[in-house]
Amino acid sequence: METTFGVIKPDAVAAGKIGEIIKIIEKNGFKIVGLRMERLSLEKAQKFYEVHKARPFYNDLTKYMSSGPIVALALEKEGAVKAWRQVMGATNPAEAEEGTIRKLYGENIERNAVHGSDALETAKAELAFFFP
Ligand code: CMP
Repeated sequence: METTFGVIKPDAVAAGKIGEIIKIIEKNGFKIVGLRMERLSLEKAQKFYEVHKARPFYNDLTKYMSSGPIVALALEKEGAVKAWRQVMGATNPAEAEEGTIRKLYGENIERNAVHGSDALETAKAELAFFFP
């Protein structure tokens, strides 16, 4: 059994999509083992996305991620990391498969509704960061 980390981002929370996204998560067989709504400070958003510090979108991304409440999630399932990435869809909603969360609710490549850990090691670090 694996646990991955997910975030419902400020755009999806503001659009009133928490319930629909959680419904998709549960329908896909994940067990929600952690859930917390939180308004990130700019500093916490910067720390969370530190790996992207050199990217041109870093400033916008961290400003956006601290612009309104998010929902942090711990999701358990066999092969959870890969499975959650499939349910989310591609980073850019325009390229995401039909039926994925980002296709359904993402606005653009930055405001893309949800986040998910990219590997098991990352999931462990991100879970520890949000659910110490
Ligand atoms: P996420 O899966 O949370 O990981 C990093 C985030 O950076 C990503 O989702 C997007 O929100 C954002 N992002 C990635 N690529 C770009 C890009 N080219 N332009 C703007 N934002 C991006």
